[in-house]
Amino acid sequence: MAPLHYFSDILLLLIVFLFSGAVFLHRQRKGTPINFPLLGMTPEILLNIHRIHEFATDFLKLSNDTFLFKGPWFSGIDMLFTSDPENIHHILSKNFSNYPKGPDFRTIFDILGDGIFNSDHELWEFHRKTTMASVLKHPDFHTLLETSIRNKIEKGLLPVLECYHQEMDLQDVFQRFMFDAICVLLLDYDPESLSVHLPIVPCEKAFTDAEEALLLRHYLPVKVWKLQRRFGLGKEKKLSEAWKAFDEFIYECLSRKQKEPKDEESSTGLLTSLISGFSGQTVTSCDSTKFLRDTILNLMIAGGDTTSTSLSWFFYLLAQNPSVENKIRKEIETKTGGGKWKSLTTKQLEGLVYLHGGICESLRLYPPVGLEHKSPLEPDILPTGHAVDKETRIILSFYSMGRMKGLWGDDCMEFKPERWFSKGGNGNGKWSGIKHEPSYKFPAFHAGPRACLGKEMGMIQMKMVAIAIICNYHVELVKGHLVCPSDSIIMHMKYGLKVRLVPITTIKQYG
Ligand code: HEM
Repeated sequence: MAPLHYFSDILLLLIVFLFSGAVFLHRQRKGTPINFPLLGMTPEILLNIHRIHEFATDFLKLSNDTFLFKGPWFSGIDMLFTSDPENIHHILSKNFSNYPKGPDFRTIFDILGDGIFNSDHELWEFHRKTTMASVLKHPDFHTLLETSIRNKIEKGLLPVLECYHQEMDLQDVFQRFMFDAICVLLLDYDPESLSVHLPIVPCEKAFTDAEEALLLRHYLPVKVWKLQRRFGLGKEKKLSEAWKAFDEFIYECLSRKQKEPKDEESSTGLLTSLISGFSGQTVTSCDSTKFLRDTILNLMIAGGDTTSTSLSWFFYLLAQNPSVENKIRKEIETKTGGGKWKSLTTKQLEGLVYLHGGICESLRLYPPVGLEHKSPLEPDILPTGHAVDKETRIILSFYSMGRMKGLWGDDCMEFKPERWFSKGGNGNGKWSGIKHEPSYKFPAFHAGPRACLGKEMGMIQMKMVAIAIICNYHVELVKGHLVCPSDSIIMHMKYGLKVRLVPITTIKQYG
């Protein structure tokens, strides 16, 4: 036993020594990460985990958009980071069949079960087809979407803004808004988390906890996080609690629906349509209630926090660019012939180019899904010449893509809605519409066959909420409040978005 004991002591000392060296060098230099003996570049990732997106952007800029990040020698987690649009196009579209989500993804995202995000091949096709038919192409979908959002604005958002406008966390407000909105739409139930007393709804809070733990799983060896889960430690403990909160909430909603009298059941919501669309599926052996739970949880994650996070970053950018806020307000006034923002139809929203350009800018600079990981089934050579095989974890950094001068020009760090305007063919050089950018250059909604199904829905929701706020308030950041991305699979703001809202009537009176 004694030699083994000495060996483990020496190994521990060596690791401590290497790690201290890493901390020292980390403080001394800026450049691509250092590859340490035994530990690889992992110390650098651990030291930068609090700013992982910025960190990746820094080394990608220094390495022509693609960089091989070496993991510890024993872990087998080398990661190829890329923000090269040709690589993105290749992986997400051109060679799509070679890049399924795969078993690693499923292991990390076990909480999502057999839902669309976790599925490949036949199961994925079934999800995509059935979600389209049961939800997005449902004859009442657009009416239900519009009515539910208008209701939430009137009964939830505006009263809360009026109550707390002196100082509030706008991110929290948006998260509550989108959580209620997706529940009304998919589960035919309003948890009213957005109401003036701001109640704590465990399922709503659970998303943030789960999304943070799921990011950490990308960087830790599987054995480490599985051990943490077993002993209920750190973020894994929070993930287990989140799992429980999701299950309780969704199963309760399903059982409530089952108990409803049949005539009422058919009159409202998309849940009935989802239940019948997904019932009798034969693509998995999973029991039908669990399968429905997985389907709904995936759609809640897809359509909830992504949209709320986009709104938070949009208002953060607006607060720093008040002239854009003014231009959007003017655009709405011109369109409606005054301050009648409530009269705008979803069709008319398309004509608000300043608003649209502003939202695209915030999605470019702060895509809610900042990164994604992929591994090929068969060995492959990427367009940049990098060889990859099934052991390679490829990290697609969507966040970094929006910050590359080569893609967006020298002013890529500026918030410019005009970037998205196209000049008309009428020869007078005036802006006339929205410029299209290929999804492999602007992958906020992903690209290729797995592109986001809810892009139009998300855009409508964001525009309606943004209009309701901009037409009533001017947004100011609370002085000294720090805004930065959190360590999560969805790019929330780590410390929220603390703002003060100044009523427009006050500005008109005194300004
Ligand atoms: C601003 C809002 C949104 C953004 C930025 C966004 C972004 C994305 C991204 C990046 C993906 C790919 C994720 C992956 O495969 O890892 C995705 C997929 C998806 N999104 Fe969205 N999304 C938004 C809103 C919505 C909404 C409102 C829905 C409606 C429920 C929705 C439904 C979906 C679905 C079902 C998928 C899976 C597609 C597939 O795997 O085939 N999204 N979205």
